Amino acid sequence: NEEKIELLRRKNAEAMLGGGEGRIASQHKKGKLTARERIELLLDEGSFQEIDRFVMHRAKDFGLDKEHYLGDGVVTGYGEINGRLVYVYSQDFTVFGGSLSETHAEKICKIMDMAMKNGAPVIGLNDSGGARIQEGVNSLGGYADIFYRNTLASGVVPQISAIMGPCAGGAVYSPAITDFILMVENTSYMFVTGPNVVKTVTQETVTAEELGGASAHSTKSGVTHFACRNEVECIRHIKDLLSYIPQNCEEIAPVYPYELKADESRKELDTIVPENPNHPYDIRDVVRGIVDSDSFMEVHENYADNIVVGFARIAGRSIGIVGNQPQSMAGVLDNHASIKAARFVRFCDSFNVPLLVLVDVPGFLPGTDQEWNGIITNGAKLLYAFSEATVPRITVITRKAYGGAYDVMNSKHIGADMNFAWPTAEIAVMGAKGAAEIIFRKEIAAAADPEAKLQEKVDEYTAKFANPYRAAHRGFIDEVIEPSETRIKLIKAFKMLENKVDKLPRKKHGNIPL
Ligand code: COA
Repeated sequence: NEEKIELLRRKNAEAMLGGGEGRIASQHKKGKLTARERIELLLDEGSFQEIDRFVMHRAKDFGLDKEHYLGDGVVTGYGEINGRLVYVYSQDFTVFGGSLSETHAEKICKIMDMAMKNGAPVIGLNDSGGARIQEGVNSLGGYADIFYRNTLASGVVPQISAIMGPCAGGAVYSPAITDFILMVENTSYMFVTGPNVVKTVTQETVTAEELGGASAHSTKSGVTHFACRNEVECIRHIKDLLSYIPQNCEEIAPVYPYELKADESRKELDTIVPENPNHPYDIRDVVRGIVDSDSFMEVHENYADNIVVGFARIAGRSIGIVGNQPQSMAGVLDNHASIKAARFVRFCDSFNVPLLVLVDVPGFLPGTDQEWNGIITNGAKLLYAFSEATVPRITVITRKAYGGAYDVMNSKHIGADMNFAWPTAEIAVMGAKGAAEIIFRKEIAAAADPEAKLQEKVDEYTAKFANPYRAAHRGFIDEVIEPSETRIKLIKAFKMLENKVDKLPRKKHGNIPL
């Protein structure tokens, strides 16, 4: 028996080395950790339980029958993060460049199936040269098996993808379907076709980092939600992210203990909105003034910064926040902002995270660029996402809520549960000047002093509509509140909505304008 146990130990030790010490050293030299080191950093100490450590590929072509590694280029299993179960796969670049073979895919599929059955998140740590070239279509089939499971698991268990090396070609479509993508600056990239193919087809000269690095995808394409300075930061973000979200669609996010204080007022909120309605302010200051201290985690921070989305806690409970950002393009809704916010809203709704929507929006961005790139369809995504969300939904209008954007930004009419407004709110079809210029055009033109007439009409329109009271008279706003009491109002309202049950009409699935 001793001999047999010894054999097992030898095999285990061999598996630990992946593609061998030389390749591990070269991985480290690139500033990258190994697949196992990453898992160790990610999971609670000693909690990792590996599955399929001895799986090997079955390929015979191109000399592969003579080259085998235990585990076949991916480490899979389960463990805990802050005491909560997660499933994880971590691609091992030291084995065939982390390339995906049929068996490598089977290992990933196995833990995805387990995650679905047992209701826990799947975390993928990607570092792979793509489809294992020697295996041909077998490896492509393996990818599709994963994509299919990603789709079925979507909305059932949270799926998080960290890109910690190459992720190219078909490989990109698994992360793309998952809920959140994190990338590491300078050592990771994602693209459908690399710089060489790009050069041939479009004659563009571009580096891998420029084309598909963390910076490109966190600012230009929006493909990645988090650009991380290094792998350690990336792994820390994954853990933080999980603290705001539940294990699966049947549960709620962890609740942190919180003792309500005698005074929860936040005086600083009273002076955040500038006197001049055209002056900007940072909506994140409003967020920080409302939520539990240091609990705000922004998502998609560098993409479409005219809208801010992220997670936070209020009285210990997780919420998702969507807020127009007056500091960027006056907080206008455009194509990118609409898509960014819609996807976030849908995530929150899938996983029972209540929504807080902060509104200061002058409308949708005009122009050919916006129209030809589908602002109608894209704005509709956000409208649709809010309308179909059944989680508790609360809106606070801090300043402008103009035109169609008023309706879209979680208005009462599309199912919001509680709608608050600050006294600085202006709920109108458009800004007073624009409105006066249109409806009093003739009167202004005919006046002896058109400037003075315009001002008179602007003042008239302002007095009528640049306030929250018209909407409050109709019950479209449930309460006009002092900014300093926003936090306590929200704590109470979210608590009141804790057991909300809302059902959509029976259907196969809706047809969101994609
Ligand atoms: N299939 C099989 N083996 C692969 C592979 C793949 N798709 N990608 C990389 N490898 C192997 C390499 O042959 C090499 O093996 P070795 O250690 O025995 O020499 C090892 O993985 C490391 O690759 P290497 O090219 O030395 O690493 P790099 O960091 O210089 O480059 C890539 C990484 C991903 C840019 C490069 O390997 C590459 O272009 N791979 C092919 C990508 C591709 O076209 N994939 C198929 C389409 S999805």
